[in-house]
Amino acid sequence: MPRIAVNVDGIRYEEEVEPRLLLVHLLRDRLGKTGTPIGCDTTNCGACTVLMDGKSVKSCSVLAVQADGCDIVTIEGLGTDGRWHPMQQAFHEEHALQCGYCTPGMIMAAIDLLRENPDPSEDEIRAGLEGNLCRCTGYCNIVRAVRRGAQAMSGQEVKAS
Ligand code: FES
Ligand code: FES
Repeated sequence: MPRIAVNVDGIRYEEEVEPRLLLVHLLRDRLGKTGTPIGCDTTNCGACTVLMDGKSVKSCSVLAVQADGCDIVTIEGLGTDGRWHPMQQAFHEEHALQCGYCTPGMIMAAIDLLRENPDPSEDEIRAGLEGNLCRCTGYCNIVRAVRRGAQAMSGQEVKAS
């Protein structure tokens, strides 16, 4: 079996993996990263989104062997020193979740969106998160949370929404 080395949330792992093993199963079943959920078997929900070398990917559509040598960040690796990442804080403050199943993927996708566009409009946020489905919230608070997260991450004063 192929042997891969991958950094996940700042820790290096070396694993023997079957060539067909999906990254999401490596994360959840082998490394215990159950904060990354699986929401579908058709690669369309986005719940499993993680950052791979800084770019968001649906980890159910990536083979573990493709992550060899990569840096992976999951929702569990975002906070620092016991504090939430500003985007996690923004989702909390804007009540941008109900069941929370989509939330890890939404937050990871939002962070990648801001990497390319630090000050997105509402329409740009909706377009940027089109690969992430939420069955509970109706998206309005999610969009507000991403706006708030963008303000916090850019050091702007966070405006009440
Ligand atoms: S579980 Fe990966 S897109 Fe749905
Ligand atoms: S909060 Fe339930 S799916 Fe989004």
